Amino acid sequence: MRKPFVCGNWKMNTDRRGAAALAQGAARAAEQARGVEVGVCPPACYVEAVVAAARGTPLAVGGQNMHFEASGAFTGEVAGPMLKELGCRYAILGHSERRHVFGETDEFISRKVHAAFKFGLLPILCVGEKLQERQAGRTEAVVHRHVTSGLAGLTGDQARQVVIAYEPVWAIGTGLTATPQQAQDVHAFIRGCLESLYDAALAGDVRIQYGGSVKPDNTFDLMRQADIDGLLVGGASLKAEGFSAIVAESARAKEV
Ligand code: PGA
Repeated sequence: MRKPFVCGNWKMNTDRRGAAALAQGAARAAEQARGVEVGVCPPACYVEAVVAAARGTPLAVGGQNMHFEASGAFTGEVAGPMLKELGCRYAILGHSERRHVFGETDEFISRKVHAAFKFGLLPILCVGEKLQERQAGRTEAVVHRHVTSGLAGLTGDQARQVVIAYEPVWAIGTGLTATPQQAQDVHAFIRGCLESLYDAALAGDVRIQYGGSVKPDNTFDLMRQADIDGLLVGGASLKAEGFSAIVAESARAKEV
């Protein structure tokens, strides 16, 4: 049984006070919907304040990115052990903004995935096609490449714990959500990739989130899909009320 997982990705937003307030709201939502795992990924500089606000609640905290080295001359980067020490459980890796704005390659992301396990963090591995790729009929090829290279070299025990976030790039921050059927089709395809890379039991255990213009009013229909196990929520996670509604709607859709 895959526990639904709804995670906020705050990107480069909020301030210290706002981050703590949002975290308190998310923690309340997590307490009210115990059947759903709830997480938030604040900017690195606010992780500590968010972990403090989440203390004693089921709210999980994650980093939005991390370098694969433990320390060293990498100006501006955050290392896995730093996130771990502050109390993070997850790290978002390979987000489309990292891939397409900051030029991260599949190989670079794969090194981060291995580093996350090494430093005791669980990766939320983002995959997804750009609009031109979808229009050219290349969605499955791109997603297959992202999944295969993102999981390369992982043991079954590790791969089982990875959260995969399918985020079509054309749906991120655009207001254009994939239809529940479009998302379900790619999620089922990803599960098939996992089955051929590992086995059916493992494929059945991995949680696959959808991300891209998720809002309270499209959550239920997305989360009703058999292979959609959770959501990675950007813009709508910056309003405590909206994010709580997304968590509650997810619990309702999955009847947990
Ligand atoms: P969005 O972002 O919900 O604002 O579209 C999702 C994401 O980038 O994770």
